[in-house]
Amino acid sequence: MAYQTLIVEVEDYVALIRLNRPEALNALNSMLLGELAEALKEADANDKVRCIVITGSEKAFAAGADIKEMSTKTSVEMFLSNFFGTESESLLRTRKPIIAAVAGYALGGGCELAMMCDFILCADNAKFGQPEINLGIIAGIGGTQRLTRFVGKSKSMEMHLTGRFMDAAEAERSGLVSRVVPLAQLLPEALATARKIASKSQVSVLAAKEAVNRAYETTLHEGVLFERRLFHSLFSTEDQKEGMAAFLEKREPQFRDR
Ligand code: CAA
Repeated sequence: MAYQTLIVEVEDYVALIRLNRPEALNALNSMLLGELAEALKEADANDKVRCIVITGSEKAFAAGADIKEMSTKTSVEMFLSNFFGTESESLLRTRKPIIAAVAGYALGGGCELAMMCDFILCADNAKFGQPEINLGIIAGIGGTQRLTRFVGKSKSMEMHLTGRFMDAAEAERSGLVSRVVPLAQLLPEALATARKIASKSQVSVLAAKEAVNRAYETTLHEGVLFERRLFHSLFSTEDQKEGMAAFLEKREPQFRDR
């Protein structure tokens, strides 16, 4: 499908989704978020896709929700249209892993979008922030909740109250991103990581994603029980037999998603 605000390419079992509104530093308007939800649904249903990478430009992953689009809205309009609610919920329904490859600004909704992905790789020029306080509002796509879980209350509170940006080194130090790489290496590294994930058994990849995400949604005891049940159930797969046999026979496994 052709999109107006995204460029989507599928190669080597990886879908690369580029946010493409350069005139507005990839600000997230309703069209972009609607198209992103559609592209993720398509990728999730496509047998030729086993991992997804979302990226922006070198200057901006996304500079936030589109301020022009929002500026004249009333609270009733925002509430009745469930502004960003529907799109973000559909993004979170994606079962295949999503890597955010962030260069430049990831601000407001851009930071929130990156945090809704499964993990964030960033370039050394990345800047993260929740500057909504400067606009007389607060974060609206999960920033107050997710940033707090990533980096802890003190840093999250300071960022939400002052609107200051966090650079790549601070983002790595505080656990917001998994790794920082030089700008020129960001996309090659994100795609290589996605291809590595794509080469695993999809059964255990989806199970791992569900189990790690459970850590955000439940108590430690229930989360560990959920993990153990999935762990036990994976012993019914051919891929478990193949993975362990390959290790013992000192060869590469041939996973077949069974
Ligand atoms: N919405 C709409 N347009 C935006 C935008 C946004 N969030 N961010 C940047 N743009 C537009 C600018 O208006 C400008 O367009 P024009 O050329 O037509 O004027 C263009 O992108 C380039 O931006 P700048 O000239 O400002 O570029 P800069 O390099 O000087 O500054 C920046 C970059 C620091 C990121 C600055 O653009 C900025 O502060 N942007 C807004 C960041 C922000 O407040 N984000 C939060 C939005 S609210 C939100 O996200 C709510 C939520 O949680 C759901």
